[in-house]
Amino acid sequence: MATIELNCVSKTYTGDVRAVREATLAFRDGEFIVLVGPSGCGKSTLLRMIAGLEAISGGTVAIGGRVVNELPPKDRDVAMVFQNYALYPHMTVEKNMAFGLLRRRKHGGISGLLFHRAERRAELAAIDRKVLDTARTLGIEPLLARLPRALSGGQRQRVALGRALVREPQVFLFDEPLSNLDARLRIEMRAEIRELHRRTKASMVYVTHDQEEAMTLADRMVVMKFGVVQQFGTPGECYARPANRFVAGFVGTPVMNFIEGRVDGGAFVAADMRVTLPAARWPRMPAGPATLGVRPDQLRVLYRADAGASSTAADGASVAATVRSIERLGDRMDVAVMIGGTRMTARIENDDRLVEGGSVLVHIGLGAAHLFASGEDGARLGDAHDAG
Ligand SMILES: Nc1ncnc2c1ncn2[C@@H]1O[C@H](COP(=O)(O)OP(=O)(O)O)[C@@H](O)[C@H]1O
Ligand SMILES: [Mg+2]
Repeated sequence: MATIELNCVSKTYTGDVRAVREATLAFRDGEFIVLVGPSGCGKSTLLRMIAGLEAISGGTVAIGGRVVNELPPKDRDVAMVFQNYALYPHMTVEKNMAFGLLRRRKHGGISGLLFHRAERRAELAAIDRKVLDTARTLGIEPLLARLPRALSGGQRQRVALGRALVREPQVFLFDEPLSNLDARLRIEMRAEIRELHRRTKASMVYVTHDQEEAMTLADRMVVMKFGVVQQFGTPGECYARPANRFVAGFVGTPVMNFIEGRVDGGAFVAADMRVTLPAARWPRMPAGPATLGVRPDQLRVLYRADAGASSTAADGASVAATVRSIERLGDRMDVAVMIGGTRMTARIENDDRLVEGGSVLVHIGLGAAHLFASGEDGARLGDAHDAG
């Protein structure tokens, strides 16, 4: 277990690709950290700099309070689990799991050679025991004699996990370890990794492009875009108080709805709507362009018969809309509606009266809405909670 401190860490690849830009982050001892963001945003590069697999262009990486910039991977006491498992194809599961420990022992130098035979035997027995214990924990004990090619994807990933576990490193580093598995198995393994963390209390840094995986695994998550850290916080914080429009759109499904407009006289005004901004949440908002963000579960779709006319109230606005499409999810449905020229998604309880093409009234709730500066990456505009 160890803390990890990144201070202004940057990576520039040849060709002036700035993969990571001045990341400054402190991870606590025993924390489960997830690095998340779209493909190409620099997650793997950052992880590999922590592992020692990639040279650091600028800044420092410290593990357990010690700067490790110049240390080779084997001296950093980290274990890495990759997406493609990286198992040795010609070795049995047992050998694959024991390999790191055996190699470490051989690296013991000349003293290793001078070991008494009995001591050596005891050491090997200890490794066997550890491999067996770990295999039991992961439910792969019956597979120990098999070669990787005789395993399913899920079993291979368990072996890769086991190989990292037996080494008992200070830090576990995972690079999209579940991406090759089917959806169901991914969810199952996700729970197992979480459980493993609870049991070992080890420090873990986990890379994924999947925001749902990040939300369900992380104690705290680092949301990245174009090599730049956008937000570092708990999943709850990133969801409830996204730092900018990018994070707001990246975290949560279905994706948050955005309405371009402007703040004017204490109201948010867009082409087809005007809603009063609750002054308790947004006191003294300066006039100017802004984007309103509303999650799909904050929209209600009212079938015309119980609709009434467009109106605004303190908690939101009701506006006329047409139903574009309906996706049934079993217990709920996602309804895409057009409000003027803006397409929005509502996640609602099943309502059989709604039909594609039909006219409805959509109530946009402001209770949990967000305001951002206009533009793709617009920063969150302060609401009253920001002060406290
Ligand atoms: N060895 C490399 N040489 C040059 N560019 C690289 C190399 N590895 C990654 N990159 C670039 O750095 C950026 C970040 O890559 P990466 O860290 O792999 O992203 P992620 O893991 O988030 O998908 C990308 O633009 C990628 O093309
Ligand atoms: Mg990657």
